[in-house]
Amino acid sequence: MKFYFNSKNASKETTHLITAASSEKEKVNFLSVCKDTKKMLQSHPLSKDYKAGLGEVLSLTNETHKVVVFGLGDQKDLTSEKLRRNFAKVLKPLLKKNLMIDVDSFSKKHKGQKGLEILLEALMLSDYSFSKYKSKDKKDKKKESSMHILSDKLTPAKFKSSLERIEAISSSVHVCRDFVNEAPNVLHSEEYAKLIEKDVKENLKGCGVKVKILKKSEIKKEKMNLFLSVNAGSAYEPRLVHLTYTPKKANKKTKHVAVVGKGITFDTGGYSLKPSGSMIGMKFDMGGSATLYGAFRSAVLQKSKNKITCVLAMTDNAVNSLATMPDSIVKGRNGKTVEILNTDAEGRLILADALDYTCDLKPDEIIDAATLTGACLVAFGIEVCALLGNDQKMMNNLLKSAKEADEYLWQLPLIDEYRDQMKSKIADLKNIGKARMAGTATAAAFLENFIKNDISWSHLDIAGVCDSQVHLPYCPTNGASGVMVRTVSHYLMS
Ligand code: BES
Ligand code: ZN
Ligand code: ZN
Repeated sequence: MKFYFNSKNASKETTHLITAASSEKEKVNFLSVCKDTKKMLQSHPLSKDYKAGLGEVLSLTNETHKVVVFGLGDQKDLTSEKLRRNFAKVLKPLLKKNLMIDVDSFSKKHKGQKGLEILLEALMLSDYSFSKYKSKDKKDKKKESSMHILSDKLTPAKFKSSLERIEAISSSVHVCRDFVNEAPNVLHSEEYAKLIEKDVKENLKGCGVKVKILKKSEIKKEKMNLFLSVNAGSAYEPRLVHLTYTPKKANKKTKHVAVVGKGITFDTGGYSLKPSGSMIGMKFDMGGSATLYGAFRSAVLQKSKNKITCVLAMTDNAVNSLATMPDSIVKGRNGKTVEILNTDAEGRLILADALDYTCDLKPDEIIDAATLTGACLVAFGIEVCALLGNDQKMMNNLLKSAKEADEYLWQLPLIDEYRDQMKSKIADLKNIGKARMAGTATAAAFLENFIKNDISWSHLDIAGVCDSQVHLPYCPTNGASGVMVRTVSHYLMS
């Protein structure tokens, strides 16, 4: 989709005009700046029954255009997320058309750049499909559609900066979704690392990003035995992708944030094999790494003033005669021994070593993200992401970023009782807690053991939000959502 601002040719090059109306106290108020359209709408017989309720669409035709009026409901009840979802709902079927959109008509509350950015975000996040394996869709690639943005209140400079910002964020959400949706026979650890390197070279060129990829021999040298224990049954080598972004004006005071992602390209459960029904969909078990790479990419494209390190631990969790057996005891990179009682609790094992490796880089803060526990779905469903950590101030800032991005993030407690559950009788730690209780929090209590030097740390369990988000019209109905890329990206920009 190509975007234009206040172009003289807008009317000639488009077939649809999108404008909005609000319904203050049952009285429909057409907010359109275009007087002729306003007149036409008010005098149209159909508009008599039109209440302009939130998402209520009125489609009319004038000599040149299809005019789509969409209701905003009462302005005082209109939140940024309601606006975003309704834009997506109304515009999704029109994405292949050439549109003219009257931004000033949208909202009194979300005026100017804010309203524009919500509109652009809704459009770009909705404009996604994973169709590379559909032979028909591939051939049907149509020419690019155009989107003419009209506003008397915005300047071209403001339009350009908003467009660049939302393009950075949305293209990174798309990259995350593409990785998560890719099939596990294609996106195994070796290929995944290559694809990230390729994306950095092609799309973050000249942005100040260094790429380091540790192969199996180097991971062995790092003594990341917990990570290697998960990879033991795999046909592929593990990879540790280590990206460093240094802003142009970096100095001693520059804040250094590290993000660490779980990249299990497929989770069979290992010897603690998953039942076949639960195994389907486990290609998305690398969602934490894809989400954090997306957030990193978005922040780099927006020239974050923070130094950002991105560490992604990649392997599948497969089974063969070399795979790690339950009851094994393995020493992690930080010297702590872990009794592996369930090989399906593998995410925490690869993160443990990746977190310890990252602590040695001495960042000020670490955020990890992982599709870590089924228990997260029991607690929060598919709608909410879980947050735990060791620094309330940092977590409050993350909660604030989630609010700004309109994504749901909720904190769970990390208490000594949960910490105690992760102690083993014969080793320092065990990788599962008691029964199935508080599974999301006990997993975080395990990870906490691998944070050193008093580094502030926050953990995101994205098990629920990573996959299909049917309630979000700007996410595909099926497959990866890219939810949390925007929250973490906002955080990395703050
Ligand atoms: N990748 C799964 C977590 C998961 C399960 C995410 C279902 C989304 C849906 C993880 O590796 C896992 O299997 N965790 C176990 C931990 C348990 C053995 C302590 C789980 O949640 O059942
Ligand atoms: Zn597992
Ligand atoms: Zn897993």
